[in-house]
Amino acid sequence: MAEAAFTKRVFSGIQPSGGLTLGNYLGAIKRFVDMQEDDYETIYCMVDLHAITVWQDPAELARNTRELCAGFIAAGIDPSKSILFNQSQVPEHTQLAWIFNTVARMGWLNRMTQFKDKAGKNRENASVGLFAYPALMAADILIYHATHVPVGEDQKQHLELTRDIAAKFNHDYGVDYFPITEPVIEGAATRVMSLRDGSKKMSKSDPSDMSRINMTDDADAIAQKIRKARTDPDALPSEVDGLSERAEARNLVNIYAALTDQSVEDVLRDVGGKQFSEFKPILSDLAVAKLSPISSEMARLMQDTAEIDRILHIGAEQAREIATPILSKTYDIVGMVR
Ligand code: TRP
Repeated sequence: MAEAAFTKRVFSGIQPSGGLTLGNYLGAIKRFVDMQEDDYETIYCMVDLHAITVWQDPAELARNTRELCAGFIAAGIDPSKSILFNQSQVPEHTQLAWIFNTVARMGWLNRMTQFKDKAGKNRENASVGLFAYPALMAADILIYHATHVPVGEDQKQHLELTRDIAAKFNHDYGVDYFPITEPVIEGAATRVMSLRDGSKKMSKSDPSDMSRINMTDDADAIAQKIRKARTDPDALPSEVDGLSERAEARNLVNIYAALTDQSVEDVLRDVGGKQFSEFKPILSDLAVAKLSPISSEMARLMQDTAEIDRILHIGAEQAREIATPILSKTYDIVGMVR
């Protein structure tokens, strides 16, 4: 289908479920910032409606939504360049999601690994929203006719489902209306791993705070966590192949590469042969230099929540300008009388 018929439009979302980590920054937010510079129209969303598919304390949800917005802005998302808003302020997402609930098949959703992981053993007790989550995600993207969606590796399956929903809608209604979205999965640190176990993703829900770097950590905490990060006794290799069986070493090199906007090859050309006792302080200084301005700016922004709310409100209005006609046309296609 003719993607060229659409302007290049980027959409991505992050759940405001609290605890932003270095993984969110390098795997998502930093890339969102970079895309602002290209000739893309960029739309970034705090997906609060997705967050409540598992229980969220209301006061915490509100706080986390604002903190995520502060994190976006502190990291370099510019509300005059990007549309920045929280999902629940644009009801068109939910309206389109309902239509997509009728397009997506039970069998498709049953295969979603994120649902299986999050629902765990007690599937009967998972919310209906958790099951239908990917149809809402498809609506988030397609309500803007977004063509490019930067996400982490773990969201690939949901993006394939988004393409399936778009294709089936187009086919069932005999139209060429929703674009087939391109996933944008790239960059050394699309997956930042735990500092304690290189086989697990860095996560805000890991019981050990030493496993992650939080966006709100101060310089001492960052330095201590990198110093204590698990490694192996060998020196760093000079070639990428030398990292293949060394998950923890690879993770630290990936983080370094992402923070300096270099390829892993280039990093190893500089640091190959160094011991961790030498590399860790370099990485730690770099991480502190990159992250502490962001965390202090976040703290500053969080002191004026009225300003954050104002930014989100303006973003929501801009988003609705795009979403409203797309929903309206969708309703016409489906045969809704208004
Ligand atoms: N499911 C994504 C995640 O958990 C968040 C998300 C919701 C999203 N809607 C989206 C990402 C639309 C990209 C596009 O990370």
